[in-house]
Amino acid sequence: MHVAIFGTGYVGLVSGTCLAEVGHHVVCVDVDRDKIEGLDRGVIPIYEPGLEPMVRSNHAAGRLEFTIDAAKAVAGAEVIFIAVGTPPDEDGSADLQYVLAVARTIGRHLLAPAVVVDKSTVPVGTADRVRETIAAELAARDADIAFDVVSNPEFLKEGAAVEDCMRPDRIVIGSSQPASIEKLRKLYAPFNRNHDRIVAMDVRSAELTKYAANAMLATKISFMNEIANIAEQVGADVEQVRKGIGSDPRIGWHFIYPGAGYGGSCFPKDVQALARTAAQHGHEPILLNAVEAVNERQKAHLFDLVVRHYGAAEALRGKTIALWGLAFKPDTDDMREASSRRLLQLLWDAGARVRAFDPEARDEARRIFGQRDDLVLCDSAEEALQGADALAVVTEWKQFRSPDFGQLRQALRDAVVFDGRNLYEPADVEAAGLAYWAIGRGRSILRGNGR
Ligand code: UDX
Repeated sequence: MHVAIFGTGYVGLVSGTCLAEVGHHVVCVDVDRDKIEGLDRGVIPIYEPGLEPMVRSNHAAGRLEFTIDAAKAVAGAEVIFIAVGTPPDEDGSADLQYVLAVARTIGRHLLAPAVVVDKSTVPVGTADRVRETIAAELAARDADIAFDVVSNPEFLKEGAAVEDCMRPDRIVIGSSQPASIEKLRKLYAPFNRNHDRIVAMDVRSAELTKYAANAMLATKISFMNEIANIAEQVGADVEQVRKGIGSDPRIGWHFIYPGAGYGGSCFPKDVQALARTAAQHGHEPILLNAVEAVNERQKAHLFDLVVRHYGAAEALRGKTIALWGLAFKPDTDDMREASSRRLLQLLWDAGARVRAFDPEARDEARRIFGQRDDLVLCDSAEEALQGADALAVVTEWKQFRSPDFGQLRQALRDAVVFDGRNLYEPADVEAAGLAYWAIGRGRSILRGNGR
């Protein structure tokens, strides 16, 4: 099948590459000429395990093309994906200007019937707006060409995007036209072999499904962070509590890890956007607002523990903190809404310096923060410890999971570890003579506090 994809960000590039991998002919379009020229030379703008070799081999095989020529891409395509960004507006609702700009472009260049697919996470009702926009452009040039707009939200996770795309647990297709659903069923047939993963529904339900999935996951995390904060106060260990509740299959083991808060390009934005949609339609989203408020507070929690350890924020002036992890989660270089950014800002505001290490996000951190005296971006976890008073861990990269605590004890002048992802056993850290502060681990918090 001939496919055009607008937008070569995470969603567009990964989806396009996976569709090419199973034999479709895919043309990826972007307005960013540098990005397209880079992709043509095999330069992948994001870090995503397995993506680079897949892009290169499909590009070399002629199944995956990159262009800024929208007219050419639209002209030859039976299925046209819209996978451009929907950044938050000032009020938190999704900004649809890029989606609608692509819709206009499609309307201007469409020559033959096609199925247009909303892949970006867009508010309920967007498919209708995309349909109206395309229809207006067609009418303006007196073209009578059949098209449908389908919602087919993407559920990929950064760091496992290729895997998620190649082995989806569901493929949601929203349309009222059986022919469009059939078309996408054919397109996705190679991903749908062993049991049927396609869930067909109406457009609005498909649009809401994406938000509901992300909001549900964000809710689980904020709930656990709330429990962790309670555990801290009452002297319980949230890690024990997690094991105690996860074994109930109705609760499950996934997404009940307390920590320094959720970040990334999806959860913060989608929870806010869904809350806005609810409010715009006259429903007060009490739970969604709370999920977001808990997360905002949680992002500052590790800093609160630092302050508790040192007695006062003023005591941080002149301190050097080693920071392990900058990305919002492991296996990505993405720092959007990352908890590390809040911690960095709070530490800097208190007059501390930071020596940070992240296996992938170093360049991204340089891009965001530029050169500054109170930030040294290091090449290794060990280098970050040099001359540091304390260690804070905010991203659970595998390589941070089992450090030599004896070495940490020698390296850190104040002999203290702040763990925003509960990576260590309190007893192991404390046996090396280090104070250990983690999230919701009551007993060690009480001990760390000298009580
Ligand atoms: C998410 C959804 O998982 C994916 O289905 C959707 O398509 C896009 O949004 P992503 O943002 O890539 O994917 O990351 P995810 O792995 O879900 O993690 C999100 C954040 O939640 C991270 O900051 C992570 O550290 C945090 N998290 C996750 C927790 O704090 N606790 C958990 O138990 C799980």
